[in-house]
Amino acid sequence: MMNSAFSAVELAPSDPILGLTELFKSDSNPNKVNLGVGVYYNDDGVVPLLDCVKTAETQIVAKHRARAYQPIDGNAKYNKLVQTLLFGAESEVLDSNRIITAQTLGGTGALKVGADFLKQVVGCTDVWISDPSWANHRGIFGNAGLNVNVYPYYDSETRGIAFGPMVDQLKALPQQSVVLLHACCHNPTGVDLNEDQWRTVVDIVVDRGLIPFLDIAYQGFGSSLDEDGFVVRLFAERCRSLVISNSFSKSFSLYGERIGGLSIVSDSAEEAKRVQSQLKCLIRTNYSNPPIHSGALVETVLANQDLKKQWDLELGGMRERIKRVRSDLSTNIAKLCPGVDFSFITKQKGMFSYSGLTREQVIKLREEYSVYAVESGRICVAALNSKNIKTVSEAISQVII
Ligand code: LMR
Repeated sequence: MMNSAFSAVELAPSDPILGLTELFKSDSNPNKVNLGVGVYYNDDGVVPLLDCVKTAETQIVAKHRARAYQPIDGNAKYNKLVQTLLFGAESEVLDSNRIITAQTLGGTGALKVGADFLKQVVGCTDVWISDPSWANHRGIFGNAGLNVNVYPYYDSETRGIAFGPMVDQLKALPQQSVVLLHACCHNPTGVDLNEDQWRTVVDIVVDRGLIPFLDIAYQGFGSSLDEDGFVVRLFAERCRSLVISNSFSKSFSLYGERIGGLSIVSDSAEEAKRVQSQLKCLIRTNYSNPPIHSGALVETVLANQDLKKQWDLELGGMRERIKRVRSDLSTNIAKLCPGVDFSFITKQKGMFSYSGLTREQVIKLREEYSVYAVESGRICVAALNSKNIKTVSEAISQVII
């Protein structure tokens, strides 16, 4: 027998977010709550299947279509609809054909193809992500071969933005540095820049010749689909080079379907064609082309005015429920721990809250109360509901006193 070729392979650490779900599943406590992964659960504690998606799926299945390969960059109708959703139907970048979009395997797939493009094709060396950022940003850009650096973002004293230090850092970056920005509902903090701050950031990006990479995975979870698109539109108006990754995992509740998009704005239609040709090479040698079903689902909803309206309503329902549980959690903590102010949680946006819980407190929550949170203190408030909020509030109050 030959010796194993893999005998020296080391055990890798489990993923800080998805690894928690594995731990959670193996917990036998019937009152366990998973506030780790960024998934929206409804008030019954289940991941919803949206009515607009059900209708779209019924229509698609009824057609019994054959399953030929898709184009390398995916479903062309879907790609166009993504552009309209992100930039608005009236956008100059659409009119001038300066934008190209590729259907990707979720937002993560878009980030990966975008990172490969910047490293291999554009020749970028460094990316700057917010401190803190989604844990996987570092891994994705690092694996693509870019040096991953951080710019100041969150101020734990004020629970707001460290805007002065952030601006100073951005102003000091060399040309062609890639700057990754969360377009809305910052993950993990839930704290976003205001519109004036975004205008300052876009000025710096333009002045310094930086390459903005906007990650928008939570459009519709902050204020509305339209308002949450503000940053994308602002950058599209000002920047001649722009990369955007978007995801429909959350907004369509289509997590396991892996549906997102990578959009790149170029200086001209001709440049955009060259960019598209390079993206196709990257995708072809990676996974060849994306699957059909997920793109068809989103396409069917976005292309039909009634279904799109229904989607907007259902998304609004998720957003409003999150706001209610944020407020309930803050009220509960105020009652259980007089003197502790948790009201910041009602001001944060999207599915996450940087709760301020320390790593030790998070471990205690998990080991003693079966309440799972990310060790950074991030909690997914979208997993709270009228049945588990009492347990969670009591558990949190026990670990913070
Ligand atoms: C999260 O931040 O929890 C989500 O985006 C899910 C993931 O893939 O990490």
